[in-house]
Amino acid sequence: MIKSLEYVSSIKPYVPGKPLSELERELGITGSIKLASNENPLGPSPKAVKAIKGFMKGAQELGRYPDGGGYYLRSALAEKLSSKKAPVAIDNLVLGNGSNELLDIVARTFIGPGDEAVMAAPSFVVYSMAVRSVGGIAVEIPLIEYRHDLLKMAEAVTPRTKVVFIANPNNPTGTMNGKDEFKKFMKLIPDNVLVVLDEAYYEYVCDKDYPDTLKYFCGGRDILILRTFSKIYGLAGLRIGYGITKKEIVSEMNKIREPFNTNTIAQVAALNALADKKHVKNSIEANEEGKTYLYREFDSMGLKYVPTQTNFIYMPLNMDSAKICDALLKKGVIIRPAGPKEIRVTIGLPEENRRFIEAFKSVSAGF
Ligand SMILES: Cc1ncc(COP(=O)(O)O)c(C=O)c1O
Repeated sequence: MIKSLEYVSSIKPYVPGKPLSELERELGITGSIKLASNENPLGPSPKAVKAIKGFMKGAQELGRYPDGGGYYLRSALAEKLSSKKAPVAIDNLVLGNGSNELLDIVARTFIGPGDEAVMAAPSFVVYSMAVRSVGGIAVEIPLIEYRHDLLKMAEAVTPRTKVVFIANPNNPTGTMNGKDEFKKFMKLIPDNVLVVLDEAYYEYVCDKDYPDTLKYFCGGRDILILRTFSKIYGLAGLRIGYGITKKEIVSEMNKIREPFNTNTIAQVAALNALADKKHVKNSIEANEEGKTYLYREFDSMGLKYVPTQTNFIYMPLNMDSAKICDALLKKGVIIRPAGPKEIRVTIGLPEENRRFIEAFKSVSAGF
């Protein structure tokens, strides 16, 4: 059989959260809940759903290729993101089949065999997968107190470094790095290194110290800000995200981007979700409510958790996380191991959170 490239064969495949239908099929159960993939428990923006339904009445349009450049969506994004201090033009935007695809495009555009990319560990696993898939070297810097150690990450930059990946807030820990430390970090990074700032959970952040990264790209730095419609906008199933960066960087990425990478329905949905302020507000409120409930329950159980800026909570436990997750699965509750003794749970609807707590209490008694 044909052999894959050596650097590809050593990559461990991404293990997604188990789909509900798969769990129910396997266990012959119904009514299970999934708190494993940081999806929005309120579901998609109602405005997006209405727009999709409206669009489907003239579904003839689906016989045509999508607008590869996503003109209307990029225009709406440019308008929404722009301020006097930090203007964003349509040429500063690139759409991806999820922000995940943009990570791959970054690797294929800027990283070659033997080049290095600096990232935190643990952080979003796709960074190292994307880098290694092109023969690059993933230089992983351990977190410090569950947050990116930005100083150590800057120190790890060498003449072979092409990209630094930062998830802010971080997945799986839900933590954030603030304005001052980010400013200091940017001062230490050479101009020819691209800083990829993954802000997938941007809309959930409540901390006023969250850096305004748009001003760095407007200040001329090589920075790519990634955001997504998969989280607060509730469109994970449609696969659409975007990057904000210098137009020269967009042009280079467009050479690699598949011409029709975001589909017509995803573009229509994202355009309408973007205008759905009510859904965003409701989603933030539901998340805060769920967070407060879960913190209270964890406190009363004496469980350790890391305060989050996102829609998920990281818990360093003194128990085997794979076994805990497996026992929860059998009770129809899907969460995620995030290390040998760590778990990550998405904040769900009130009844889902209660169900998780009940299931956790009953399974953890046996550990
Ligand atoms: C930090 C981070 N970045 C990117 C993504 C990918 O999001 P998308 O659905 O836009 O590909 C995720 C998804 O969980 C994530 O947690």
